[in-house]
Formats: sequence, structure tokens, C-alpha cells
Amino acid sequence: MRLESKVAIVTGAAGGFGSEIGRIFAREGASLVLADINHRAAESLANELKAQGTKVVAVSVDVGDEKQVYAMVNRAMSEFGQVDILINNAGMGRGARIQDITLDDWNQLLRLNLTGTFLCCKAVIDHMIARGYGKIVNMASICGQTARPVGVDYSASKSGIIGITRTLALQVAPYGINVNAIAPGPVATQIFERNWPKETVDKLKSTIPFKREGTPRDIANAALFLSSDEAGWITGEVIAVNGGAFIG
Ligand SMILES: NC(=O)c1ccc[n+]([C@@H]2O[C@H](COP(=O)([O-])OP(=O)(O)OC[C@H]3O[C@@H](n4cnc5c(N)ncnc54)[C@H](O)[C@@H]3O)[C@@H](O)[C@H]2O)c1
Repeated sequence: MRLESKVAIVTGAAGGFGSEIGRIFAREGASLVLADINHRAAESLANELKAQGTKVVAVSVDVGDEKQVYAMVNRAMSEFGQVDILINNAGMGRGARIQDITLDDWNQLLRLNLTGTFLCCKAVIDHMIARGYGKIVNMASICGQTARPVGVDYSASKSGIIGITRTLALQVAPYGINVNAIAPGPVATQIFERNWPKETVDKLKSTIPFKREGTPRDIANAALFLSSDEAGWITGEVIAVNGGAFIG
């Protein structure tokens, strides 16, 4: 098993990508902190995995709230005594024109996608430095790498996540900590149905040369690789998982 004796925090763990990451990490032997603002759904996944023998806790967290983020990391430490892996996956999307994005909309999205990533990295980093080991995987997007028909708030947040990934990777490499990002192309999860009109989704999907939609498994497999010791000499990297939709 590739994550045996490792402890992983997964944010947005109740969602499409997060729940698949939770299942694959459990199968690979990790102990898990499933963190989500949707506590009921995170708890239901935790019960499913517990029944299969995984050590797991569900934690209710708003990743944009510093106190709650530190409480989440403290819970991981008190429950398991270490944090080896952080998957910064919680996020939301939007497809509006710039004229239709209010300042409140902008602040709400940036708070979740970008500030949430910053706070979670900040809260785990001293624990990882103390052990001289850590893997951080941030969920960026194809929309942070190149132009796509989405909201500027979303693309700004995902470009920002790529910036955090590269700069933090440089800062913490001397402590044995890898920081990488995944840039998924379009994958049908609730984020799509909830936030983008069908026309935008169809436009995004039409750009995939592999002629199939991505699946949460495609994304979770990349998260597993980047969280494993097989990726030990990779840092500051953005792995595109997009069926060829953007080859940069
Ligand atoms: N689905 C795609 O095509 C796609 C493509 C590129 C990037 N992404 C990114 O992947 C990540 C996961 O997306 P998904 O498709 O699984 O979406 P999803 O909507 O299925 O899951 C998102 C999860 O985040 C949780 N969440 C929302 N606000 C939160 C908060 N304040 N604190 C903690 N948790 C919160 C939700 O409850 C949900 O469980 C997001 O960051 C998204 O931007 C998705």
C-alpha cells in the first residue's frame, strides 16, 4: 500500500473529487481527516470507510475561517499525532461575465478557493517542518493555466493557487516537503451542475481531444501519485489532468 502509516487531510472531502480521493487514499492505507463544510456528507463517507477498517474522522470546517482551519489541524494532531499529506481541494466555481460578478461574489469565491488554500497550508506547515516530511497537493484548474469561458474570479483564484504552489514549494523544499498542484480539465461533478450553464459546460467539454469527460478517479489517481514517495523529487509542479484539453 502506497500510503501506509500516512495521515492525510482532505478538504472538500464530501464533493466529487474529495470523496474519490478519500476512497483511494483509504484503499492505499492512509488514515484520514475528511474536512468539509457539508459535515453530514463527510460523516457519511467517514462511516463508509470506517466500516472497511480505515482510521478516519470527519471534521466540519469552513476553509476560509482561520480559527476553524487551525481547529481542523489540531484535531488531526490530537487524533493521529501527525499530518503527512494535505489535499487542498475545497472550492467553488462560477461562469458569470465580469459585469455580473459583484464585489461580494468576488470576495466569497476568493475567500474559499484562494484564502482557504493559503490558510490550510499555513496551518499544517510547522507540523510538517518539525517532522521533515510533508506532501501538499493543491487543486488548481485548467482555468488557472489558460483562458476558458469561466468567471474571472474563478480563473484568478486558480492562477493564484498555482502561484502559492510554486512559491511555497521553493520555501519548504529544504525541509523535505513537496508542494504540487493538479490542474484538472472539465469533470462532471456537482460544481459543474451547480455553477455553469449547460452551454459553458458543452463548450468546455468540446475542447477535450481524448473525446471523453474526465472522471473523479482520473483526478484522485494524480493526487495519489503526488502524495506518494514515488513523487519525492517533484515539487512546484502543476500536473495537467485534462485529456489533452490544454497542452502548455
Ligand atoms: N469538476 C471540475 O471539472 C473541476 C475542474 C477543475 C478544478 N476543479 C476543482 O476541484 C475542486 C473540487 O471540485 P469538485 O468538482 O469535486 O466540486 P464539488 O462541488 O463536488 O466539491 C466541492 C466540495 O467543497 C466543499 N466546500 C464548499 N465550501 C467549503 C468551505 N468553505 N469549506 C470547506 N469545504 C467547502 C463542498 O461542500 C463540496 O463537498 C475545486 O477546488 C474545483 O475548483 C474542479
